[in-house]
Amino acid sequence: MDWGMKNRLERLIQPDGHCMFLPVDHGYFQGPTTKLEKPGETIKPLIPFADGLFVTRGVLRACVDTRNSPPIILRVSGGTSIIGKDLAHESLTTSVQEVLRLNAAAVGMSVFVGSDYEHDSLVNLGKLVNECENYGIPVMAVTAVGKELEKRDARYLGLSCRIAAEFGARVVKTYWCEDFDRVTNGCPVPVVMAGGPRCETELEVFEFVYDGMQKGAIGLNLGRNVWQHAHPVPMMKALRAIIHENASVKDALGIFTDEKENGGN
Ligand code: 5RP
Repeated sequence: MDWGMKNRLERLIQPDGHCMFLPVDHGYFQGPTTKLEKPGETIKPLIPFADGLFVTRGVLRACVDTRNSPPIILRVSGGTSIIGKDLAHESLTTSVQEVLRLNAAAVGMSVFVGSDYEHDSLVNLGKLVNECENYGIPVMAVTAVGKELEKRDARYLGLSCRIAAEFGARVVKTYWCEDFDRVTNGCPVPVVMAGGPRCETELEVFEFVYDGMQKGAIGLNLGRNVWQHAHPVPMMKALRAIIHENASVKDALGIFTDEKENGGN
């Protein structure tokens, strides 16, 4: 692996081989979604605990301080909205020149396997990988399910992750599911987990994150279950402990409760 690619990946993935990314890209199709109305305010207290920030160029320029930024994973696909016809109809939106200008450590785009736009999104992934590899920029493929959340099972996610890896993604983001080792075992590149819509309790979040880590994930790209929570900083600290300190679910719950009781937001 060339120095630039290795260096960029090592800025994001920590020496223990794990990572905790904070995605705040949701506005690119959801608009000012709950708790992300002012992204700069939402992310400010969370930035010290993030190994990477997944964000569009618009929010990066407007809301992220250049002096106080974790490595950036730039969201470079889009073109749809939650009120539009089909969330899967995405294209590439951001040039590689822009990625370099913004000093991003990686880029991320969604692929929609099984959708009407499967072919377009996969060919776009191939094009993005072709361009980014020229400059040593890792591509993170996001295995998106659109509005069909019930697609989140090991068979479907395993298929999507494997295809994204075959197309050259250096990292794949997917959802946790039952039998998550079927997903990680079939994917030859590192897998990070997203959370999807908010879970009912923090215990549920810690349980799936712990399970996913035991079953081969290298970390998280977890958004709404952090920043839509009433106590995002305690959530972030507890999750970091699972990712980087091998904490159990019980340990994580203890950290969360202590942080919350000590006034952590
Ligand atoms: C949105 C994304 C998000 O980055 C990803 O889904 C993670 O966020 P969450 O944990 O809220 O699902 O790609 O399209």
